[in-house]
Amino acid sequence: METKEEWKSRVGFLMAAIGSAIGLGNIWRFSYLCYKNGGGAFLIPYLVALFTAGIPLLILEYGIGHRFRGSAVLSFRKIGKKWEWIGWWPSIFAVLGIAFYYTVILAWCLDYIWYSLTLKWGSNPSAFFFHQHLNLSKGFWNLGHPSTIIFTALIVIWILNWFIELRGIQRGIELACKIFIPLLVVLITILVIRGVTLPGSGKGIAWYLKPDFSHLTNPRVWLDAYGQIFFSLSIAMATMIAYASYLPKKADVTGNALITAFANSGFSLFAGFAVFSTLGFISVQQNLPPSEVVKSGFGLAFVAYPQAISAMPFGARAFGVIFFTALVIAGLSSSISMIEGLVASLIDKFQWKRRRIIHVITLLGLLVGVVYTTGSGYYFLDLIDHFISSYSLILVGLFEAVVVGWVYKASNLREEINQISNIKIGRWWDFMIKYFIPIVLTVIFVFSLKADFVQKYGNYPLAAILFVGIGSVVVTFIIGFFFYKSKWKKSGELLH
Ligand code: PHE
Repeated sequence: METKEEWKSRVGFLMAAIGSAIGLGNIWRFSYLCYKNGGGAFLIPYLVALFTAGIPLLILEYGIGHRFRGSAVLSFRKIGKKWEWIGWWPSIFAVLGIAFYYTVILAWCLDYIWYSLTLKWGSNPSAFFFHQHLNLSKGFWNLGHPSTIIFTALIVIWILNWFIELRGIQRGIELACKIFIPLLVVLITILVIRGVTLPGSGKGIAWYLKPDFSHLTNPRVWLDAYGQIFFSLSIAMATMIAYASYLPKKADVTGNALITAFANSGFSLFAGFAVFSTLGFISVQQNLPPSEVVKSGFGLAFVAYPQAISAMPFGARAFGVIFFTALVIAGLSSSISMIEGLVASLIDKFQWKRRRIIHVITLLGLLVGVVYTTGSGYYFLDLIDHFISSYSLILVGLFEAVVVGWVYKASNLREEINQISNIKIGRWWDFMIKYFIPIVLTVIFVFSLKADFVQKYGNYPLAAILFVGIGSVVVTFIIGFFFYKSKWKKSGELLH
């Protein structure tokens, strides 16, 4: 049996957890959501979501991972034989569902570091991104052929993931994140300074933060806030449970959760200045209204930002390289964490060798990745992203709260956490876990489902939506069921 690895230091654990939390979502999603949902006023639902769901669930995940010294699968198995599947679901989804497309976006970022050297996108970054880079096909079912440049970059991204993961907890994840996080902060600081000193930056920052409280009555705004907090804190994806299982016996669980959460949100807010000051600059340069410049997700990183880079008065190429390098670094520390959730679960149950598991995941990632590099890869990616981040995360969070809150009992876990933590949590936490979070998540689930039925997401053909939506659930279910039904290699007492 392999001995359980541990983090070398508290700072090392925090760097890894913050590295998991800070990812693509913080740089391009948060600031766009602020803009769309009432600017500074959006911070109200965002902070409410952070305190009522994000932090309580993060404390729960750190709490059980640490308490049972186990991956998601082992932790839930120890709560009760029949709950083990709650661990398999997110472990598998985080890799098959998220990591396999997340790495493709990282591959695009890597290509864009290369393109930055010659400002290859020219005067029409949008046409360049969709036609030349993605070679987007006419429709979902029209695959076209795989792209060599994207696939080459994908190989590099997977080699990096493979290498870091292979080296294990201390020498791999911890060491990489101890380098990545400070570097990321330096790069983003450079981008913020560059952004706010550009002409027109004030206008962009005003779009970003000007409060408009009338949005707060719109339920959609609240759904966005909760969704963002979930994805951004990497909760309900097996990751944080696995990371907490490598903590030493004495660990300040609550303190760690608070530090992770505040660092993550602080980073989002800070990165927003870099993004929006730069968007203000292009709007003034090209005399465009905000609706033309401010785009969400991919549009922001691969269309609007390149446009701004080309217009910069000096150092355009360098700023392009810095921006896309920051994205790659932020994303790599997240993708390794998604993989670790599954690796930890497989090692716990089957005692398989870390090395072998990583080889298989890497090969599968490359294989599945081929689909995403084809002409309709973008459509697949967009649909998967939409369904998994809106449904899977929410359902898993819901089950976690119910099982820990009612079966294991929130008050038991709270007492255990309080014994080792510097900050003591009160009964309010039990209330959040047992009642508030399950209710809020159910409401969000129903609302999102309704919205998707009413306005078919992204105008995709219904068959495509069903194919991706049902297909991903069925595949996860089959694999999860198989693992769940297989025999434990651990001896009986270790399971109790
Ligand atoms: N939190 C990461 C981001 O914001 C994504 C992530 C999701 C990481 C799930 C791990 C697990 O980009």
